[in-house]
Amino acid sequence: MGRFRQKYYDLFAAVYDRFVALHASDHQQRARHLLAEKTGGGADAKVLDLCTGTGAVLLHHQMGLGKGGMCVGVDFSAGMLNVAKEKTKAYPSIFLVQADAGYLPFKNRAFDAVTCSHAFYELKGETRDRSLHEIKRVLKKGKPFLMMEHDLPANRVVRALFYVRLLSMGAGKALEILKHEGEVLGRYFDSVYKVNAPGGKSKIWICKNNT
Ligand SMILES: C[S@@+](CC[C@H](N)C(=O)[O-])C[C@H]1O[C@@H](n2cnc3c(N)ncnc32)[C@H](O)[C@@H]1O
Repeated sequence: MGRFRQKYYDLFAAVYDRFVALHASDHQQRARHLLAEKTGGGADAKVLDLCTGTGAVLLHHQMGLGKGGMCVGVDFSAGMLNVAKEKTKAYPSIFLVQADAGYLPFKNRAFDAVTCSHAFYELKGETRDRSLHEIKRVLKKGKPFLMMEHDLPANRVVRALFYVRLLSMGAGKALEILKHEGEVLGRYFDSVYKVNAPGGKSKIWICKNNT
């Protein structure tokens, strides 16, 4: 399944940004900007964007960074990363790494924040478990993991497409995270709370550990 999704995204990469722009460009941009702001890191922060795709969130992260800061985008799809590379080449604080979210090639406590935008529902079973352990491992003490995902869409057609996406990921596990995401995140983090993203279409879970 992981390999299938990797190939799927390699192909989807060519149209991904246009697809997102079609149904949610302004909301998405504002939501991604808020996600970056909520990391709370200063100019020297080191931020990791997990499942970065075409790098949309990285562009918002780099706005808040100075010379000492950096943001790293990780994704397992070479196709998505190629698009990201083209989009982010003008920004020296942005780095891209091809890796699986469950096996992060970084040292312990390397980052001041980890973000994941519209990809967490795709991490399921052992991959989700491994990814959450890895996120905790690479985060500095007390620093946040921010997970942004779609809320259940109000429009019936969009909601149907949303369910198709969830089903394509393996219905049971995907629906589990949709209904119990606070509980799932609470198994890994000491403090977990949710804020609404602009446009009312997405939410951001903010998760921290005391140790
Ligand atoms: C819906 S896209 C979201 C991309 C981006 N975060 C955004 O907000 O536009 C999901 C991304 O997650 C990546 N992905 C899914 N499973 C992954 C895994 N196990 N490890 C790394 N990347 C993964 C896909 O390749 C894809 O780029």
